[in-house]
Amino acid sequence: MTELVHTRAELAKARDGLRGVVGVVMTMGALHEGHETLIRAARERADHVLVTVFVNPLQFGPHEDFDRYPRTLDADLEVCRRAGADVVFAPSVADMYPDGQPAVRINPGQLGEDLEGLSRPGFFHGVLTVVLKLLQLTRADLAFFGEKDYQQLTLVRRMVRDLDVPVEVVGVPTVREPDGLALSSRNRYLSPEERRTALSLSAALRAGAAAADEGYDAGEVLAAAHRAFAAAGAQARLDYLVLTDPDLEPGPVSGSARLLVAAWVGGTRLIDNMAIRLT
Ligand code: PAJ
Repeated sequence: MTELVHTRAELAKARDGLRGVVGVVMTMGALHEGHETLIRAARERADHVLVTVFVNPLQFGPHEDFDRYPRTLDADLEVCRRAGADVVFAPSVADMYPDGQPAVRINPGQLGEDLEGLSRPGFFHGVLTVVLKLLQLTRADLAFFGEKDYQQLTLVRRMVRDLDVPVEVVGVPTVREPDGLALSSRNRYLSPEERRTALSLSAALRAGAAAADEGYDAGEVLAAAHRAFAAAGAQARLDYLVLTDPDLEPGPVSGSARLLVAAWVGGTRLIDNMAIRLT
């Protein structure tokens, strides 16, 4: 049985009824197999699973897609049921922010200004603020986040460590379409032609990973990724393609690394990343 609750009072009551280890999967809805995999991973590790569905206005810029972001609660509930969620918390904006926009927000530090933060000012302030609020409201023991949003996962881990938040953060590998495209709620904005162009992101990452496996160094890995991006997606506009340390710390990379890409395909901004092993 999956219980749907909307208000924080209803959530508190539902939460009081859960015993043992509670896992939370936070989402903005428009659930797909990536989200479903997170819920199933939570099911494996926790006694009870709570899913939050909330399109958080705080993490959208003035010209971003807050208004047109897909809202599909009925279909989302079906996914939650199928994957075995116990409680779905789908609050309104007024439930989450009863006093309007919060005056106090989490500052993500330097990493929050880099990569995604460069083109989306304030994005990670909004993300971390809602994540912390949802952790407080759900009182979860485990919180599951996808590697798909690697910088987000890294910053959530960092917040939990820096602020002593009593939760264990669990990262879940990215779920992809058979052709390599990382699943994303925003993929539904893509026309069939853009859908093909969108493969340039995963093609770049795969080419980089393959070059690393063949023993090429960091510079050559990046060059291989750039070439594959250009070959696969003449129509895609690259925002960034970077090879970094797995914790996204600045400095030279060696051994374990992460290749991250962001690009515009038509009016849709897509991101992806992959683990890289330099030898
Ligand atoms: P959303 O984009 O809905 O993603 C919710 C969770 O699903 C995130 O942890 C994300 O990394 C994960 N996810 C998305 N696509 C995935 C894929 N293809 N494979 C694996 N995991 C995937 O990320 C957010 O919402 C918001 O920023 C949120 C954390 C809910 C705060 O508002």
